[in-house]
Amino acid sequence: MKETINQSKLSKPKTFFLSLIILSLFFLIFLSLQPHKSMQKPISDLKIRPGYTSYDNYIHHQLQKTTNPNLRKIWTSTDWHRKIRVFTQFFNRLKHEKLLTNSSKALCVGARVGQEVEALKRVGVNDSVGLDLVPYPPNVIKGDFHHQPFDDETFDFEFSNVFDHALYPDKFVGEIQRTLKPGGICALHVAVSRRSDKYSANDLYSIEPLKELFDGSDLVRSRKVDGFGLDTEVVFRKRKFDVKNY
Ligand SMILES: C[S@@+](CC[C@H](N)C(=O)[O-])C[C@H]1O[C@@H](n2cnc3c(N)ncnc32)[C@H](O)[C@@H]1O
Repeated sequence: MKETINQSKLSKPKTFFLSLIILSLFFLIFLSLQPHKSMQKPISDLKIRPGYTSYDNYIHHQLQKTTNPNLRKIWTSTDWHRKIRVFTQFFNRLKHEKLLTNSSKALCVGARVGQEVEALKRVGVNDSVGLDLVPYPPNVIKGDFHHQPFDDETFDFEFSNVFDHALYPDKFVGEIQRTLKPGGICALHVAVSRRSDKYSANDLYSIEPLKELFDGSDLVRSRKVDGFGLDTEVVFRKRKFDVKNY
């Protein structure tokens, strides 16, 4: 009798340890079945906004704001100097970093009334022009950034703060890479942690999609900025030799 009691006392910790080993084994098997982090498909950090029923519909939506006469009055009066001042600081820094020089041929993509073009000229980059759906002569000419009206390898420098307005981000970036000279610089201001306005056509959640889209360029740097609702400046340099073409 005494022996039986002792045996049952002994078997309790035994059972406990056995269960612990079995549980640990199950846990290890479960862990080994999980995909490794580097094997996981990245979550897309670039989302195209739904709701544009056609390209015409998208263009019409963009034009609604850009052609608004009251807003154009504000952009060309109250807003004019304030925006030029801020753009001037951004461009001066890029000049200081030797990413932009007075001899750069520069393009501002989606320049609306062209405060950024004016700022480039004021910092000494005289050969500068803007592109927008609505022209604003002499600084901004008419054109669609999905099909830039320029020859290949025209510019040394392109600036844009309208990536979020691209319905086709691959074409937007493709056109910048096409019209940049080899070694040319593209500086983008984008909204990563904030959502941009109702005229945006896409939302960006990190700079990873930009790195993928700029497949013929190298990332020079990115930094936080305060640029009219846009929080990140990303700078790329177009490669002199793109291995893809050989
Ligand atoms: C937020 S505003 C930026 C204006 C200007 N860069 C500034 O900071 O004052 C966006 C501009 O992108 C232009 N835009 C939108 N879609 C475009 C397209 N497909 N091609 C060219 N410009 C476009 C609009 O007309 C508008 O002027």
